[in-house]
Amino acid sequence: MIRVLVAHASERGGTAEIADWIGAALRRAGVEAEVRPAGEVSELEGYDAVVVGGALYEGRWHREARRFVRHHAGDLARRPVWLFSSGPLDRTAQERAIDPVPGVAKIAERLHARGHATFGGRLAPDAKGFLASKIAKRSGGDYRDRDQVAEWAAGIARELRSVTV
Ligand SMILES: Cc1cc2nc3c(=O)[nH]c(=O)nc-3n(C[C@H](O)[C@H](O)[C@H](O)COP(=O)(O)O)c2cc1C
Repeated sequence: MIRVLVAHASERGGTAEIADWIGAALRRAGVEAEVRPAGEVSELEGYDAVVVGGALYEGRWHREARRFVRHHAGDLARRPVWLFSSGPLDRTAQERAIDPVPGVAKIAERLHARGHATFGGRLAPDAKGFLASKIAKRSGGDYRDRDQVAEWAAGIARELRSVTV
């Protein structure tokens, strides 16, 4: 069975839950998936492919996602890799494909990533923190779309099966 690692970097839990949805969709498609916080993964031995996802904060991928790809660059280069970002606090990510932020685009290029998706984000209306509470007042809410995420993950499972059959 193909074994996939879904590594996530999340500050407030929204991106971690998207990673769980990806894991569940991969399993439904017959792929073994393990979902783990990026910061807790010490090696990629035993994984055939990797999905890395990070929350977007101030135009950048979460630092743990950046650290993960830096630390595992060599091992990632030898495996099929997919990336995702979660951020926009509006419906745009459901309406159209949103390009990765420049830092993530560079990572995607360096790793020859098979794909990248930007999914909507989530911010609680009562989020704490100076900037977060300001943003939350204006655009707090849950803009994640589980079906959209599951469809993307099903595409990954299809691609993986086609390369290993
Ligand atoms: C301080 C702050 C800055 C943010 N900056 C961005 C951004 O640059 N781009 C974006 O798309 N979303 C941005 N967001 C929205 C978050 O990415 C969104 O809330 C996301 O779901 C957070 O994921 P998490 O719950 O995994 O931490 C920002 C949110 C906060 C609170």
